[in-house]
Amino acid sequence: MALVIPNEVKVGVVGGGGREAAMVEALLGDKRVKRIDCFPGREGYRIGHEDRVQCHPDIPASYASKIAFRSRDLELGLVIAGPEIFLANGGADKLREFRIPVVGPSKVAAQLETSKVYAKRLFLSQGVPTPAFEIANNPESAIQIVNRWFEGKKVDALVLKADGLADGKGVIIAHSLDQAMAGINNIMVDGLIHKTYPDAGSFLVVEEFLEGHEASFTVWTDGTNICDAPVFVDHKAAFNGNQGPNTGGMGSYGPDPQFTPELRDKVMARIVRPIIEGMRAEGHPFQGVLYVGLMIVKGEPYALEVNVRLGDPEAQGILPLLKSSFLELMWACATGGMDVMRPEWYSDKVAICLVLASKEYPDPGQKGLWIQGLGKASQLPVQILHAGTKKDGNGFVTDGGRVVNVVAVGRDFGEARGRVYGAAKEIRWPGVRCRTDIGKG
Ligand code: AMP
Ligand code: GLY
Repeated sequence: MALVIPNEVKVGVVGGGGREAAMVEALLGDKRVKRIDCFPGREGYRIGHEDRVQCHPDIPASYASKIAFRSRDLELGLVIAGPEIFLANGGADKLREFRIPVVGPSKVAAQLETSKVYAKRLFLSQGVPTPAFEIANNPESAIQIVNRWFEGKKVDALVLKADGLADGKGVIIAHSLDQAMAGINNIMVDGLIHKTYPDAGSFLVVEEFLEGHEASFTVWTDGTNICDAPVFVDHKAAFNGNQGPNTGGMGSYGPDPQFTPELRDKVMARIVRPIIEGMRAEGHPFQGVLYVGLMIVKGEPYALEVNVRLGDPEAQGILPLLKSSFLELMWACATGGMDVMRPEWYSDKVAICLVLASKEYPDPGQKGLWIQGLGKASQLPVQILHAGTKKDGNGFVTDGGRVVNVVAVGRDFGEARGRVYGAAKEIRWPGVRCRTDIGKG
């Protein structure tokens, strides 16, 4: 049976960063998309498309109910979830109550991302390869576990993960017992993570530290059938050569040249299908994006984490490689038509996304700095995506840590890099910073 999509669709996009800017760009490529409403979106998404793209700055992504009601009022035919907070707050459930097709899992299924303990238990029950782990439900048992690991098992390092959502800040890699003790204090007792995210550290996962190649494996699923995207690599460290503090991502490249078809088949058979089948068997079918953070050790894939949304900045690179319609893929995902969905990807192209960040990033970036050169850069063969900008008069100012994303497609990484950095040098504000080694592998 062929996929039946209305001739005109009004689409909602939840979120307001670079990932959502990429989704808006991809949707605009389909004439059937009559209008896009973003919650909250960003003025920069609208450049050149003021008639089709609307923003709702008063409705942030966390306002799950409000977004559902507004989607109903606006008669949206499809809503695509960006960040996990919307899903964690039950946004997809509310939209389904209103019978509005949505790309994103239920609140219960979103626990794959919102609770490390939930994810680990599912991995265990489904035999999904993942680093060895133990779970502590109080600081004393966490101390016992790390003592046992360092003293008895003689590990060189281990990873501490707060159970709940902590804006990506709940993971600590400890290279000594002292660091592990400090980490437990930070997450469970009275450190910064505990103070900022008091609910996240009720449980702690102590995990084996794995060294290998990290890659982001993304699929869309309607709960049964699965379409996978090209595998991307996210440069998480703040500075060149993977130095400096962990960030939300300073850039991405893909398809990952290290990712062989055999590896892809292993990941599908051992990780992705078991997770999706496990969720169905538990009565919580997973529908939406499943993005598995993988560590490849000696050719074998391990699931480090699962996210229930597209990666940022992976999405910015992935979507321009989609040759067929993004609307069709989203429609199939939301309405259960993935069995007939065969998305086409450019097999002879690669993509790079470069993040232009504030000087202070990953600390909060200075806001209100005038950005120059956006117009000139957008004349070049790149996409300029607004991730953390704000409109000010006729121009834009900085409004966050990751301010602008520059995305280029090329026949190879050399060509894509040339395009990305050629455009990036046009964009300036005081303290603008980027890594200069994105896409070098
Ligand atoms: P997560 O929030 O689980 O993605 O963890 C953040 C980052 O910590 C990951 O992207 C990895 O770079 C690193 N990490 C997480 N778990 C492990 C592990 N078991 N071994 C090595 N590195 C890890
Ligand atoms: N690229 C990392 C993330 O989206 O979580």
